[in-house]
Amino acid sequence: MIGFIGGGNMAEAMLKGMLAKGMRDVLVSEPRDDRRQHLRQLYDIDTTGSNAELINRCDVIILAIKPQIVNALADEIRDVDVTGKVIISIMAGVNLSYLERVFLAASVIRVMPNTPALEQEGMSVVSVNEAVSEDVLNRAIELLDCIGKTLVLPEAFMDAVTALSGSGPGFIAYFVDSMIYAGERLGLARDIATTLAVQTLTGTAKLLQAGISPAGLVKMVASPGGTTEAGLNVLNDRGARGIITQTLTAACQRSIELGKKLGG
Ligand SMILES: NC(=O)c1ccc[n+]([C@@H]2O[C@H](COP(=O)([O-])OP(=O)(O)OC[C@H]3O[C@@H](n4cnc5c(N)ncnc54)[C@H](OP(=O)(O)O)[C@@H]3O)[C@@H](O)[C@H]2O)c1
Repeated sequence: MIGFIGGGNMAEAMLKGMLAKGMRDVLVSEPRDDRRQHLRQLYDIDTTGSNAELINRCDVIILAIKPQIVNALADEIRDVDVTGKVIISIMAGVNLSYLERVFLAASVIRVMPNTPALEQEGMSVVSVNEAVSEDVLNRAIELLDCIGKTLVLPEAFMDAVTALSGSGPGFIAYFVDSMIYAGERLGLARDIATTLAVQTLTGTAKLLQAGISPAGLVKMVASPGGTTEAGLNVLNDRGARGIITQTLTAACQRSIELGKKLGG
């Protein structure tokens, strides 16, 4: 059985994707009664208020709590036997070395997923230490493939990954929200501006997925002296690329800080 400790937003995104792929053997432990009820009613899955019970019943355990409370969880389950279990942590900034210390005798895997997992369009990056067998790694990849694409990378890249694909949906949604705001300022009704912006995002994503490079697509749309070029000139003159770089750098830095706080 696959268990989620913490039944919040990211756990819900992942379990929705997994259920859509037919994985029904799922248990969620969550302290909030209303949240447990929500998950039971919407997804017809089993829930519990006890993390110890979840660990005892599951062989794969996904840690989907906030990094700030992982120390409290470690204290709470100190006496629970995790021998032979597979622990998959999705917590931003929580290092493999920390997880190995807390979950002695288990195989620990660090993953950075993202919220498009809700629509099985997630991006998950996986890191493991040598102690994890190929079988266990492949099992984790198989599970993550249910919610989108999966890449395996050395842990040293995890803070950058957290900034780009982990937090990325928030940054892209911010850009889309700003386009909708700008559309309204130009006289479009909000619902019309939303349809235009979201469909433009979807279509652009499909072109990029088809293999057109982002820079190539910019050139394709921006004819000399045209409307796109006029807009791009503002982005370039105001240093938009620098702002985006600073944005990802701040997210990356926060991931490093969270790791340091835990002494990982
Ligand atoms: N959201 C994202 O886009 C995203 C992307 C990649 C990775 N992550 C990672 O995913 C993790 C979860 O993020 P989230 O956005 O899903 O947060 P969230 O919505 O706050 O979910 C965390 C859940 O865990 C519950 N919880 C708190 N203490 C617990 C305990 N001792 N045992 C079991 N459950 C407990 C919380 O309940 P209460 O509300 O009562 O505290 C909450 O329902 C974080 O570590 C984050 O770094 C998130």
